[in-house]
Amino acid sequence: MACEQVQAQAPHVVFLAFPTQGHIIPAIQFSNTLASEGFIVTFMCAEQRIAKIRKSQGAELNPSIRLIGLPDNVPLGELRIDEGADSFLLSLRIADNMAPAFEQTVNGLIKDSKESHVPPPLCIISDFFVSWSQDIANKFQIPRYVFYTSPASHLTLVLYLPRLLEQGIVPVAPDARGIVIPGRPPLDGSEMPWDWQQSSPKEVNEFSFRNQLRLHESSGILINTFYELEGEAIDALRTEAINPNKVPIYPLGPILPSWFLKGEPINDEAFPDQTGNECMQWLDAQAPSSVLYVSFGSVAIPTIRQIQEIARGLDASQQAFLWILRLPPSATEATDLPEGFLSRTHSRGLIISTWAPQLLILSHPSTGGFMSHCGWNSILESICSGVPILALPQFAEQFLNSRLVAEQLRVGLKLQRGTDDVAESDEIEIAVRELIQGEEGRAMKKRARALKEEAARVVAEGGSSHTTLNAFVQAATTTHAQT
Ligand code: UDX
Repeated sequence: MACEQVQAQAPHVVFLAFPTQGHIIPAIQFSNTLASEGFIVTFMCAEQRIAKIRKSQGAELNPSIRLIGLPDNVPLGELRIDEGADSFLLSLRIADNMAPAFEQTVNGLIKDSKESHVPPPLCIISDFFVSWSQDIANKFQIPRYVFYTSPASHLTLVLYLPRLLEQGIVPVAPDARGIVIPGRPPLDGSEMPWDWQQSSPKEVNEFSFRNQLRLHESSGILINTFYELEGEAIDALRTEAINPNKVPIYPLGPILPSWFLKGEPINDEAFPDQTGNECMQWLDAQAPSSVLYVSFGSVAIPTIRQIQEIARGLDASQQAFLWILRLPPSATEATDLPEGFLSRTHSRGLIISTWAPQLLILSHPSTGGFMSHCGWNSILESICSGVPILALPQFAEQFLNSRLVAEQLRVGLKLQRGTDDVAESDEIEIAVRELIQGEEGRAMKKRARALKEEAARVVAEGGSSHTTLNAFVQAATTTHAQT
């Protein structure tokens, strides 16, 4: 490839996302960052997801991002954006189904580049759950960088997976204790990732192992975290014990919109949707820092028993709340919530059963706490809003994340679980009051606010994540020039 041609044209990257919201949201955001650094980004995901992105975020996308939908071989309507833990299993299948069309598209991009103003892709950036893209990168002799949407502390476990499999620790037995990973305190089996548990579906175990083992082959791992948040874990990731192939580690987060990180005033016109307006108007009418926001991300749905305990706990706490309530199929608000709950809490509670604008809710001055499943995006968004967390992990790496929140960062409380693994209403009532009104809650809020300021600093010129981003851009474009 002629270097003159490379220099005359904007560098081009191919981005491949895993088809669930928790992975797509930061992937699109990072594509925007790359586009503003001068890259052309060809962004690919399952076609039904791409259709949703066009509809919901089309206007916010940098024009240098080209969206391409890959056939996912799933009947229209089965892939539901924001409902049902089952859709996670479906997403695993879709992720694998995308491979042939992805290969064909990359091939086409390379061939067409001879007659087009868009140069051939200089690298593939792909989610850690689509490791087959490594084979395609190898075939076309371009580097593959991994996009990692979970924290660095989770990645320390994942890069150590070959040893854990060798030692027979993974798949994890329910009674496993004191699991040692270099550079971190020992873990109990229950804190290990859900996808590694013996009790999880075998399909999920196998999918995870297959994808995670191949991280060691990549040209670098881009992590949505920052050094000032997870310094110890990031240092551990650079040790021989965890990372024997010395795969470059790029912590360049938090990957979030700049208006949000800068705490700029909300532009209502950018969010004209009806649910968003309803939430904002309701929050406007509440006292500062008085509202508990309750949401469990885009995949997890707590059991009906857990939902009932949350309702009783919120009822007894007397606190205001905004609850994104997705019920398991077959349950209804009228029949499955505790009797009288809706009428008793009507004046201080807002329940939303669809997708809600989480960033706007968290950054609203009335929001004082977040009951969360501890998905990594939710944790980053909460911290970057200075809002403390009430942790109720559900699956994936969320148990591990909740420990980071409560014990290391000390920006949240972990809800203890009783019988049937359910956090009970008394526990919830006390924790909600403590978080919103108590001394401990105030101290956690102070720490969250300090991290919020740190987050804004690290992505600004000269900050650690900004410097890492520059290092990645340099690495990616240098490799390109040499090919
Ligand atoms: C999952 C994992 O749990 C997470 O740890 C992993 O890193 C990515 O995949 P999810 O369970 O959906 O993601 O949780 P989370 O990481 O919190 O991501 C959810 C995203 O959807 C957040 O960006 C959140 O702001 C957004 N969201 C969710 C909304 O905007 N509105 C909603 O109603 C629900």
